[in-house]
Amino acid sequence: MRRPMVAGNWKMHGTRASVAELIGGLNQQALPVDIDIAVFPVSVHLGQVVEGLSGTVVSIGAQDCAVETGQGALTGEVSSEQLLDVGCKLVLIGHSERRLILGDSEEQIVRKFAAAQVAGLVPVLCVGETLEQREAGETLAVVERQLDSVIDALGVAVLSSAVVAYEPVWAIGTGLTASPEQAQDVHAAIRARIAGKDADVAGALRILYGGSVKAANAADLFGMPDIDGGLVGGASLNADEFGAICRAAGN
Ligand code: PGA
Repeated sequence: MRRPMVAGNWKMHGTRASVAELIGGLNQQALPVDIDIAVFPVSVHLGQVVEGLSGTVVSIGAQDCAVETGQGALTGEVSSEQLLDVGCKLVLIGHSERRLILGDSEEQIVRKFAAAQVAGLVPVLCVGETLEQREAGETLAVVERQLDSVIDALGVAVLSSAVVAYEPVWAIGTGLTASPEQAQDVHAAIRARIAGKDADVAGALRILYGGSVKAANAADLFGMPDIDGGLVGGASLNADEFGAICRAAGN
């Protein structure tokens, strides 16, 4: 049995004041203890969130990390080792906004993934197709190419201490959600692809769905056999909504 995970990607949202409010709201939630829960604030708020949620079941992650671990001359970047030092346990790698808006290349994503694991963070590798790619029938080819970049460079075993998030770009922040069946099809294909290389790694790998997950659709999505939880953007900024999504994964 894979332990479900619900992760909240706060993206570039929040001020110290609004983050304090969200922390207060999360502290009021009855959160399930039989799943993993994580939130991913912007890096300048990490210390505040680590402190504010200490003693809760919520782990903290970062939204990105540098291609190098350790410290050094890399202006503007934050290394996985520094993230670990401030209390992070996880890091998003290759979110579509970084791939498409910030220009993260496959090579950079592989280096970031490796750097995260060297430091002892759990990478959450994000994959997913654009609307054009889906309409051209390229969904599986795109997702497999994104996965293969990491597997070919680092070996399939690295996925035994990682999480994958399938996030169709056309469903992110649009209010359009992949149907549970559409998402399940891609999740099953991802797992089958990995099983072709290592069945044990594939069987244990948590594959989260992301793209307009909310309390109203979470239970249906999480009920699918290969969907092991969610990566939640907009709805994770509301503590009640996020709490409800967590509870949908917990039972
Ligand atoms: P959304 O974002 O839930 O707002 O669609 C998901 C994500 O980008 O991780």
